[in-house]
Amino acid sequence: MSPRRVLVTGGSGFIGSALVKRLLRDGCAVRVLDDNSRGAPRRLAGIEKDIEFIAGDIRDPAAAANAVRGVHEVHHLAYVNGPIVTELYGGWQWTRRIGLFLAWHAFIIASWTRVRMWNHEG
Ligand SMILES: NC(=O)c1ccc[n+]([C@@H]2O[C@H](COP(=O)([O-])OP(=O)(O)OC[C@H]3O[C@@H](n4cnc5c(N)ncnc54)[C@H](O)[C@@H]3O)[C@@H](O)[C@H]2O)c1
Repeated sequence: MSPRRVLVTGGSGFIGSALVKRLLRDGCAVRVLDDNSRGAPRRLAGIEKDIEFIAGDIRDPAAAANAVRGVHEVHHLAYVNGPIVTELYGGWQWTRRIGLFLAWHAFIIASWTRVRMWNHEG
């Protein structure tokens, strides 16, 4: 039987990298889309060869369309949060807006492709 093909956006982030490892243990074929803006490639150290890593911005339609090609499901963990965003954009409202924008964008992608989609926004 062919493995479940899974895309994890934000896969080099705190939660995403842990999920990637778990999915690999479960026998999935894992692809990651992350721009490494907040993620750390070291979190995927030792499993680089076991995954497909796409460096890209989820807001870029071409990168997103490429990332979802051929997958069965998407776990959406690409997110911008925390005090750095608050400092950059001047208020917590922006943190929430950016998060919602990324979530909204991911849902659009999921509806294009009809893949199963999990949004893990906290
Ligand atoms: N950390 C927690 O305890 C916790 C608990 C519950 C829910 N969550 C939710 O899980 C999600 C991820 O949280 P986290 O703690 O792993 O955050 P994180 O910052 O560690 O990971 C987010 C990842 O998204 C990537 N990213 C950001 N913008 C991107 C973009 N435009 N394109 C592609 N990649 C982009 C970053 O590089 C990073 O790797 C959030 O929705 C958060 O609310 C987190």
